[in-house]
Amino acid sequence: MSVLLDEDKKNIEQIQKKIETLRQQINEHNYLYHVLDAPVISDAEYDQLMQALKNLEKQYPKLITPDSPTQRVGAKPLKEFDQVTHEIPMGSLDNAFSEEEMAAFNKRVQNLLETTEDIRYVCEPKMDGVAVSIRYEEGLLVRAATRGDGETGEDVTQNIRTIKMVPLRLRGKHSPKILEVRGEVYMSKKGFAELNKRASERGEKIFINPRNAAAGSLRQLDPNITKHRPLSIYFYGIGTKPNAEIPDTQTELLNALKNWGLPVCPYVKAVKGLVACFDYYQSMAEKRKQLPYEIDGVVFKVDSQKYQTQLGAVSKRPRWAIAYKFPAEEVETIIESVEFQVGRTGALTPVARLQPVFVHGVTISNATLHNMDEIHRKKVHIGDRVIVRRAGDVIPEVVRVIEHHGSKDIKEIHLPTHCPICHSKVEQIEGEAVARCSGGLFCPAQRKEAMKHFASRRAMDVEGLGDKIIDQLVDTELVHSVADLYSLTLTQLANLDRMADKSAQNILDALQKSKKTTLARFLFSLGIREVGEATAKQLANHFCELPSLFSATEESLRTVPDVGPVVAGHIIAFFAEKHNHKIIEQLIAAGIHWPKIEKKSHDLPLIGKTFVLTGTLQKMSREEAKEKLENLGAKVAGSVSAKTSYVVVGEDAGSKLLKAKELGVEILDEEQFLELVKLLCIKNKKTLV
Ligand code: IVH
Repeated sequence: MSVLLDEDKKNIEQIQKKIETLRQQINEHNYLYHVLDAPVISDAEYDQLMQALKNLEKQYPKLITPDSPTQRVGAKPLKEFDQVTHEIPMGSLDNAFSEEEMAAFNKRVQNLLETTEDIRYVCEPKMDGVAVSIRYEEGLLVRAATRGDGETGEDVTQNIRTIKMVPLRLRGKHSPKILEVRGEVYMSKKGFAELNKRASERGEKIFINPRNAAAGSLRQLDPNITKHRPLSIYFYGIGTKPNAEIPDTQTELLNALKNWGLPVCPYVKAVKGLVACFDYYQSMAEKRKQLPYEIDGVVFKVDSQKYQTQLGAVSKRPRWAIAYKFPAEEVETIIESVEFQVGRTGALTPVARLQPVFVHGVTISNATLHNMDEIHRKKVHIGDRVIVRRAGDVIPEVVRVIEHHGSKDIKEIHLPTHCPICHSKVEQIEGEAVARCSGGLFCPAQRKEAMKHFASRRAMDVEGLGDKIIDQLVDTELVHSVADLYSLTLTQLANLDRMADKSAQNILDALQKSKKTTLARFLFSLGIREVGEATAKQLANHFCELPSLFSATEESLRTVPDVGPVVAGHIIAFFAEKHNHKIIEQLIAAGIHWPKIEKKSHDLPLIGKTFVLTGTLQKMSREEAKEKLENLGAKVAGSVSAKTSYVVVGEDAGSKLLKAKELGVEILDEEQFLELVKLLCIKNKKTLV
């Protein structure tokens, strides 16, 4: 009996060994194929290895481990994505659009580093996809998250695991204990075309470009769907620092990533000096069409990590990197007609209906004409042959007229006197380019747009409540205001066109889920004019609760960073409307709530102090100086008065300096200013960004 048991044990050990060898072989072939682009076996041989492993694991399920190459899709569909707070926020890059802007970037880097020597840059193609952060612990993939708003993203671990280019375990015995890597998930041009072909054959929705397709695929709750989407990834950096040694340069970091089994774009190259950067940019612009994936520019990164640390970041944008974007694409077509669309704030936007043209994989049939001033300035008519520009995801625009298409056919474009939707009068404030429908929320178009904004991802995030459903809800008068959304019933939703019971229930669940929010999101979702996401966050952090904001004066609003007289005016006007108060009350009565915010802004050391910046600063732009001061609680004003606490004086300061002297206001030169900021930042335990 015991002999038999021993036999069994030996047998199992052998199987285990065999399984491990197969896994190692498969992982090594993955590395050769995806990272080194140098496969040594055929696809059929690779499939055989996988099949052998699957067979053994089927017989011995106890020997399955989560990092086995067979375990890419294991989990069931999710109900929703969990939120992930990035330990180190995922920033973004500043853009350059011309050689001049690139030269200014290079000069600034040299100035800040106090050198005139050529800087060594790593040049990387700017992949046009979706940024993700993937965490490995003890070499094992434990979590993957989207960028989200840079601070909080969504947990897409299940979906990331389905991408074959992502190793489930890092390669090599000496990988760091904890490593968070950052990269871009993208879809190849070929994969995108095939996916859309399959979708149109099945009568399903097609994606407008590979980036949207990649983003949509990554946001699937069911990993079995993502598994069939042709997603790829290239890695370009790290988040949480590995507690192993940090490489000294970006070049070494990219090499380390490759050694850990993480694919890096093969076109990465290190160069010295600006001219070499221009050469690289040119060569990538020429290669762009032939590349199997979309790139929208080139990223230049200062190679030395020491320099990177010295250069730091402003507003989560590193000063050691820049994205030099490719110019937008331009095509010729004819304007067939012009319609006026009514936006959330009633603004009328002329939209040109075009003879459809094909640009970079996408058919364009509409382009914005912005406003009447632009139409007059560009002398655009219906029937004109025009140049249309399309840049990334931005709405295409009419750039200029090439010829008036036969003088008989062309027609003038007139601003309608009445709203094309609700027939209220169209008004235009003198000096403003924008004309608006005066119907307010009486206008169904404005109501629809307000609701679409309210339900959007960055606002209340009501998943599944798409534009078409909102259009129907307003048209059928089931909802009049955003508050009505929360009293919709299953039957009402299920009775809408092309709505199955399950989708109706999903929307009700999403509405329920949206009730738990943050004050910042709630404020943003209200659609107050010119209150974007960033301003909403600042308002929430400053006022901490709604009642304080209701009664805020212009003066107190203007102490909030980002809020000038115009925005303050819009906020006051919004809260002065009884109707808006009623909707807010209804929303709160429906159960919308958010966590309490601790008042902390009042601890900031420069609260109550007003600064004026004048002249040219050498070490930073005025914007950066303004941001530093505002982060410390100060207000930055445009003119000097007796109330000014300090005037910061750069080179060639003029009348403001004289005025400060006249009024006896304290004057700081750039050095003194930096010293003050540094001191206060340390005191306030803030980083010096
Ligand atoms: S570095 C602090 N390198 O571009 C951000 N980004 O606006 C550092 N991207 O969100 C990013 N290719 O999605 C970097 N080689 C590359 C990139 C790249 C594409 C995207 C990424 C990021 C956005 C920056």
